[in-house]
Amino acid sequence: MKEKKIVVAIDGYSSTGKSTVAKQLAKKLEYIYVDTGAMYRAVTLYTMRQNWISQNSFDQEALEQALVSIRIRFEINPSIGLADILLNDENVEKYIRKLEVSQHVSQVAAISAVRKKLVALQKEMGKERGVVMDGRDIGTVVFPDAELKIFMTATPEDRAQRRFKEMKERGDVVEYKDVLENVKQRDHIDSTRKDSPLQKAKDAIEIDNSSMSLEEQFQCILQLAKEKITEISG
Ligand code: DC
Repeated sequence: MKEKKIVVAIDGYSSTGKSTVAKQLAKKLEYIYVDTGAMYRAVTLYTMRQNWISQNSFDQEALEQALVSIRIRFEINPSIGLADILLNDENVEKYIRKLEVSQHVSQVAAISAVRKKLVALQKEMGKERGVVMDGRDIGTVVFPDAELKIFMTATPEDRAQRRFKEMKERGDVVEYKDVLENVKQRDHIDSTRKDSPLQKAKDAIEIDNSSMSLEEQFQCILQLAKEKITEISG
């Protein structure tokens, strides 16, 4: 029996640990992992560098016009065996997870022209299947036909605590209350925007990981993926 490849869509609120479990799963299944949040973050970084976005202004039109010249792609980093994100051929991995980028990314991700461009790239990356993709609209918009859809949730406080710890470990100077505020603000913008709001697909399996270890989450999703692969491989 030849094992068929599936698409695993992992959606959910920010900092639910989607990417950690998605990376582990992709490695185990020998699938491609695509962090779609990184793509929205790279476009946000570009916008910030052009000074088109700040605390109280956003030149949306300038960004829309520049979209054709923004190139986003992933390249394998051999030292970690995972892909880094490239913005116009520059590796921007170390800049895109800063709080300043997090503070603007939901505004950029709400623009339909941005979503259209990135969704097309994401569909292309998964067209051969064999992909684990995490984001907000993977199971609803990018791959509504994904064989396995997971929707991850956890309380805002749990999520902010995780992100705060991650940032501190990286050496960022941040306060917990600012991280929590950002998590809540992004939840609000991401789930109320007009285009592709964050919502659970009807056929997604919801996992609240507030009190689950990483290993428990991984084993649970791996089991679901294996069952699906067996089922479709006949
Ligand atoms: O997963 P993340 O926190 O790195 O995502 C950053 C932002 O990008 C998030 O606030 C919403 C947006 N996003 C999106 O709108 N659609 C996706 N598929 C992935 C991320």
